[in-house]
Formats: sequence, structure tokens, C-alpha cells
Amino acid sequence: MNRRSIVIGGVATVATVAAAATGAVLWSRQGIGQWREAAAGIRRPLNADLSGTAALAELVRCATLAASSHNTQPWRFALGDSALTIVPDFSRRCPVVDPDDHHLFASLGAAAENIVQAAAVFGLSATVRFADEGDDGRVRIDLAPGASAASPLAAAIVGRQCCRGLYDGRGIAPADLDLLAAAGRGDGVDIVLLTERPAINAVASLIIAGNTAQFADPTFLAELKHWLRFGYADAVATGDGLFSLTSGNPALPAPVGRALFDYVVSAASENAKCRAQIASSAGLAVFVSERDDRRHWLSAGRAYQRFALRATAIGIKQAFLNQAVEVLPQRRRLAELLGLGARRPDFVVRFGYGADMPWSLRRPVAEVIA
Ligand SMILES: Cc1cc2nc3c(=O)[nH]c(=O)nc-3n(C[C@H](O)[C@H](O)[C@H](O)COP(=O)(O)O)c2cc1C
Repeated sequence: MNRRSIVIGGVATVATVAAAATGAVLWSRQGIGQWREAAAGIRRPLNADLSGTAALAELVRCATLAASSHNTQPWRFALGDSALTIVPDFSRRCPVVDPDDHHLFASLGAAAENIVQAAAVFGLSATVRFADEGDDGRVRIDLAPGASAASPLAAAIVGRQCCRGLYDGRGIAPADLDLLAAAGRGDGVDIVLLTERPAINAVASLIIAGNTAQFADPTFLAELKHWLRFGYADAVATGDGLFSLTSGNPALPAPVGRALFDYVVSAASENAKCRAQIASSAGLAVFVSERDDRRHWLSAGRAYQRFALRATAIGIKQAFLNQAVEVLPQRRRLAELLGLGARRPDFVVRFGYGADMPWSLRRPVAEVIA
């Protein structure tokens, strides 16, 4: 082989590697335009000029922007003349992480709260009614003419997100903590705010123990993987699930992400992330239900959503860290640690100041209207 052929061979290799790298980048960016468009579309500001069925559809859009466990969006909506009914979609339940449907009903509660907060924008007042235990779990929201009013919580519906990035470690002024606490209390639901490091660290160790147990459970990992969306195109195609970017991970083509997940993600890597996230936060909020039943889970979901809207309205970020309530032995230890007796700790949410994260998507409104 002469010098010239070595040079030509080298150039060809570099060109092939560069072409492969460019191809990989283009592949991983596939769908980015549609993702941006979808994210901006679903989070456009509320249109207060709408009335009738168009206003009801706008209320449904608000409901769908609520938090839901694994972004499963386990809901459908039936529109009536003077009511909106949220129908649970049990085909979207997560039997491993949420065996008793606590999170599913909390998600319905979060959706209901967005409707309650947005109703006044359309000159309506909303009353949430929940059928009794043993019923099919529908949540009926009666709508009656009311005073028209804009509110900071209604305006925050399109800007709220679970912000999973690192926060900046700054503490929160007592007056703002009071606002968060007031928003996070509900019917049969209380909130415990922890801002002292020893108390935060005690809960953090239960979160880490819960996370370690979840990552040792192949059924938990399989369920999680089912709801992960690795790439833009993947996220846009379903409009649901946990998109990589929202957790601070890179967007990858779905087949690559799926193949890498088992090798890259581990209890150790996730525990390190959780520790850093908690260390960067101003505090933890624990939501607590008086009774352990659907009615209270719904109320806890409403309380979380109100808390998150209030936080958004005053520039505070928040995100769930529910490992300590999802794993039963850790949930019992958490109840003991906080002296809750028979009451159920529903969620653990960290809060603080930080930057926005990329948006998660939703299925189109037309797809969830029954
Ligand atoms: C009941 C419930 C439990 C949740 N648990 C977690 C959790 O443990 N960890 C997490 O990162 N997000 C959790 N989430 C947040 C959802 O993943 C999030 O709401 C969803 O991905 C949509 O994103 P968005 O809230 O930013 O719009 C939970 C949400 C709800 C309603």
C-alpha cells in the first residue's frame, strides 16, 4: 500500500464516520419541529372569548394539562349541558407502581382542579362531585353561571410543569412558603413542608431506599420503559409518556434509547441524580390524606395541582419524588417518621428556584372527549 492510498483510505474513513455521525444526529432530531409545534399548541394561553361547547373543550384542554403519573393521562371527558364528567381510563393504569390506583385517581383530581381554576375565566363556577366507593370512579363537575374572573392560578395552568432539573439551592421566603402551604391543603388533605436539612435528609434516605427497591424490580422497570418516550418522533406519535428531555436526558431515536436504557440506567445512577436534586431544592412537601380511599386520593391530586399552580404563579419550580410513597415499607417508615398515624402520605414533592425544562406532551383534546 503506498502513501497515496493510505491518505485516500484515511479520508474515506473520516468521511464515513462523519456521515454516520451526521446521520445519527439527524435521526435523533427527527420530529423536533412537530414536537415544538405540539408543545406550543397545547400550552397556548386560555382563550377567554370562547363560549358554549368551545368553552367546554377549552376546559378539557386545561384538564389535560394537569400532571398525571408517568404522563399516562388516564382520563376521558364527557361533555354535558351543565356538567363535565371525567371518566377514568383504566386501560392506562400502572399496576406495578400504582397497584391500588392511588396515582390514577390523584391524576383525575389534578385534572378536576384545573377545570375548577379555569372555570371562572369563562364565567362559570365549578363544583366537583365524586361518586362513592364501589362506583365506576367517574368525577362529575357541575358547571353553573358565575362571576367572570381571571386569576393567577388559571393563568398558570399552561405554564406549570414538573421541573426535574437541578434547582439553585436558594431558600424560599416565609410568606411564599405560607402561600404554598395554603394552596396544598384540601378537603381531608394536609401538607407538611420540610425546609430544615436534617428533616429533608431523613426523607431523602427513604426516597433513595424506595428508588433502590424499584430499580431492583424488573416488573417496575418494564412498566417504566413502556411509558418512556426516547425521541421527539416517539413523543409526538403518542402524545403521552415520559419524554427523555423532560428528565434532563438526551433525545435518542427510539430503538437506540430502548437498547441503551438497560445498560445506562441503574439504581446507582438514579440515586445520585435524586441526591443532587434534593440537595439543590429549598425543601420537600409531603401531602397527607386523612383516609386511604379514592375520595381522598382525588382530593390529594387536587391539592397537589393547586400547590403546583400557586408555585408556578410565584416563580417556584416543583417536581415529584414519589419513591418513598410508592414502595410500601418506605411509605410506612415515612408515616412513622412524620408521626402520621393511620394517615396516608400521598406524594413527596421537592420545590425551589430553577430554570424551565422542556415540555411534556398531551394527546389531542378531540382524542379524549368521550
Ligand atoms: C400522582 C402522580 C405521581 C407522580 N409521580 C412522579 C414521580 O414519582 N416522579 C416524577 O418525576 N414525576 C412524577 N409525576 C409527574 C408526572 O410524570 C408528570 O405530571 C407527567 O410526566 C406530565 O408532565 P408535566 O406535569 O410536566 O406536564 C407524578 C404525577 C402524578 C399526578
